[in-house]
Amino acid sequence: MATPLYILVTGATGFIGAHVVDELLRRGHRVRAATRSIQKGELMKISRPQYAAQLEIVQVSDFSASASFKDAVQGVDGVIHVASPFTYNTTDNEKELVKPAIAGVKAVLEAAAQEEKVKRVVITSSFAAILDVDRKVPPRFTYTAEDWNPLSYEEAVATETSAVVAYRGSKKFAELAAWEFVKERRPAFDIVTLAPPMTFGPIVHPIDRLADLNESNAMLWAVASGKALPVARVPFWVDVRDLAVAHVEALFRPEAGGKRFVVASPEKFSYGLVKKIVEREFLWGRKRVAQGEQEVDDSYDLDGEAAGRELGVRYRSFTETVKNFVDQALNMEYNEKR
Ligand SMILES: NC(=O)c1ccc[n+]([C@@H]2O[C@H](COP(=O)([O-])OP(=O)(O)OC[C@H]3O[C@@H](n4cnc5c(N)ncnc54)[C@H](OP(=O)(O)O)[C@@H]3O)[C@@H](O)[C@H]2O)c1
Repeated sequence: MATPLYILVTGATGFIGAHVVDELLRRGHRVRAATRSIQKGELMKISRPQYAAQLEIVQVSDFSASASFKDAVQGVDGVIHVASPFTYNTTDNEKELVKPAIAGVKAVLEAAAQEEKVKRVVITSSFAAILDVDRKVPPRFTYTAEDWNPLSYEEAVATETSAVVAYRGSKKFAELAAWEFVKERRPAFDIVTLAPPMTFGPIVHPIDRLADLNESNAMLWAVASGKALPVARVPFWVDVRDLAVAHVEALFRPEAGGKRFVVASPEKFSYGLVKKIVEREFLWGRKRVAQGEQEVDDSYDLDGEAAGRELGVRYRSFTETVKNFVDQALNMEYNEKR
C-alpha cells in the first residue's frame, strides 16, 4: 500500500460520505471526518472501534462562513468533498439547495488553498449536473462527462421551479464554481469531480429510523415495503460501495487530476426491476412489494465505462445492490418494531 495519508472527508455522516470514510480507513489512511452533527460523528466513531486511532471527527456547522473549513484542513494531504444538500423536501430552493451547495464548494476550496500540504480535492458532483431533459431520442445518444445540463441560475432558483430541478441547478453551479476557482486561483492542488447517477446500496452512516433514509435509498424501500413505484427520472445508477472506491482512486491516481468522471454501472434500472428482484429474492416479496409495472428505459445511454477503466472500478450488479440494501432495511424494520 502507498504511504498512509491524512484525508479530510466532508459529508462524512451522510450515505455516500460514510462509505468514502470506510474505504479510506480500510486502506490504512487517517481520516478527519467533517459533520454538522457531532453526535452523529461520535456514533460513527463508536461503531468503528477497530479504526479508533485512524478516525477523527470534526464539526463544521456552517458552510456559509468562509472560515468554516479553515481548521478542518489543517495538516491534511487531500480532501474529498461530499457534503451538499440532497433533499426534495424544501420550502426555499435557493436558500436550502443552491446557495449552500455553491458555498460549500467555495469554502472547502478556499480553505484547501491555505493548506500547502493539500495536493488534490475530489468533489462529489452528480449526473444531475449533466442531465438535459430536453435531449430526446431518436437518435439514440450517450451522455458522457463532457455534458452539462442547460439550466440557468435564474431557472434553477425561480419560485415555480421544483426541488428536483433546483437540485440539478445546485449540483451544476457548485461544480462550475469549483472549476472556475481552479482556473482563476491556480491553487497548489488539482481537482477531480465525480458525477454519479442514482446511488443505491447498504448504509454505513448513523441513522435511527428507516424514515431517515437518504433520498435515493428511500425510493428502493418505498418499492420493497409496498408503498409505490416512484417515477424513475433516469435509468442510470451506481452502487455506493463502487462509488466510494471511485472517490478514493480519484484521490490517489496522479493521472486523474483535472478530470471529470461519470461513475455509473453499465446496467440500467427501473423501480419495476427493483420490484422483480424483491419478488424473486425474498420469500415475502410477492405479498408485500409495491403494485404496478415499470419498464427499464433503454432508449439512451450513460458512459460509466471510462471511469470504470480509468479509476479501476468494477461495477456490482443491480441484483446484488438491491438484495444487500433490502436485507439491511428489513433488519432495521424488525429492530424498530421490537
Ligand atoms: N444519493 C444519490 O443518489 C446521489 C447521486 C449523485 C450525487 N449525490 C451527491 O452525493 C453527495 C452526498 O449525498 P448522499 O446521497 O450521501 O446524501 P445524504 O445522506 O443526505 O448526505 C448529504 C451530506 O451532506 C451534508 N449536508 C447537506 N446539506 C448541508 C449543508 N447545508 N451544510 C453542510 N452539510 C450539508 C450532510 O451533512 P450531515 O451528515 O452533517 O447532516 C450529509 O452528510 C451530495 O453531494 C449529493 O449531491 C448523491
